[in-house]
Amino acid sequence: MSKERTTLSVIKADIGSLAGHHVVHPDTLAVASRILAEGKSKGIINDYYVTNVGDDLQLIMTHRRGIDNPAVHELAWTAFKEAAKVAKDLGLYAAGQDLLSDAFSGNVRGLGPGVAEMEFEERPSEPVVVFMADKTEPGAFNLPLYRIFADPFNTAGLVIDPRLHLGFKFTVYDAYEGREITLNAPEEIYDLLALIGTPGRFIIRRVYRKSDNEIAAVVSVERLSLIAGRYVGKDDPVAIVRAQSGFPAVGEILEAFTHPHLVAGWMRGSHYGPLMPVGLRHAKVTRFDGPPRVVALGFNIKNAKLVGPADLFDDVAFDEVRRTAQFITEYMRRHGPIMPHRLGPEEMEYTTLPEVLQRLSSRFVETGEKKAAKPKITSELLTPKEEKGD
Ligand code: F6R
Ligand code: MG
Ligand code: MG
Repeated sequence: MSKERTTLSVIKADIGSLAGHHVVHPDTLAVASRILAEGKSKGIINDYYVTNVGDDLQLIMTHRRGIDNPAVHELAWTAFKEAAKVAKDLGLYAAGQDLLSDAFSGNVRGLGPGVAEMEFEERPSEPVVVFMADKTEPGAFNLPLYRIFADPFNTAGLVIDPRLHLGFKFTVYDAYEGREITLNAPEEIYDLLALIGTPGRFIIRRVYRKSDNEIAAVVSVERLSLIAGRYVGKDDPVAIVRAQSGFPAVGEILEAFTHPHLVAGWMRGSHYGPLMPVGLRHAKVTRFDGPPRVVALGFNIKNAKLVGPADLFDDVAFDEVRRTAQFITEYMRRHGPIMPHRLGPEEMEYTTLPEVLQRLSSRFVETGEKKAAKPKITSELLTPKEEKGD
């Protein structure tokens, strides 16, 4: 019989927060912990860790049931529902925000929460890093994941370590068309970058080690606005990355976050700002509802139990990164409501701006001048000819 496999599930939702979209209230964390403790005693999960990053309640769970397991998803859904009830009782802001439907039917995907899950056979020591970001979108992990698994200037092991040397495979999700493509690195890195350079649409959702197809990383790709068809806050993402002995070292994984790159999100999900790596004590979003933040918790997993966490960005080694992020914050804020601080028109589609613009439409008058050609949208270019019907 093959060895028992372990599943790590990170499921998150914004169920309401204290004083705006700022930070989760301790009472809602407590009720979520109670529900997961019950789930553990019933044997649904083997272990759990409950925390928050900004206004997102994070459930980190280990079990033996595989990904997309109905009992585990139901447990998470119940924890969010009960926490949302407490949020409502306390009058917290946007109580129940991410719970978009009442009709739970075995899986939280598509109902609002974000999900990153992976199943593997535990190595003798199984170090993992759980990343949780607030006020940004899943594509925010595109750049760091590329750096970790495809850029030897970040990850020395890609050159030096024979176990990493063959490279990794990236599965990229097209959030507009609900389809995915798998590309090999290093052979196809230019094609990979051609897609993931549009992080609002093409999102790295899984990474595999090429030599043995072993899962290396997974990202939540749920896009709230696309599910709801309207603006309901950003899809603050989570990711899991396996580390060491044949995977990038923890230090190589964290190194990818030393450049506070610009990500979409921040105030009203409508602005670019730097992704600032912080420890849990600074995981609250204040300035202009941000700047966007990311926390990294390191765990060891043993017999489907969580050992840890280590609060990895809570270290002076990241002080300069944070200072750079603050500088960029100031610089971007000076643009006010003007692009490129504010997102471009395609990304603003699912915010509250269209409603405002609609009101102006009847006041435009035709001038009779030549019209500029509209840009060919990427959808059209990426649709195979026969499907276009021409
Ligand atoms: C972004 C976010 C916040 C809100 C902003 C306005 O994801 O949640 O920046 O968009 O605080 O919130 P409302 O419209 O609820 O007043
Ligand atoms: Mg919120
Ligand atoms: Mg949030």
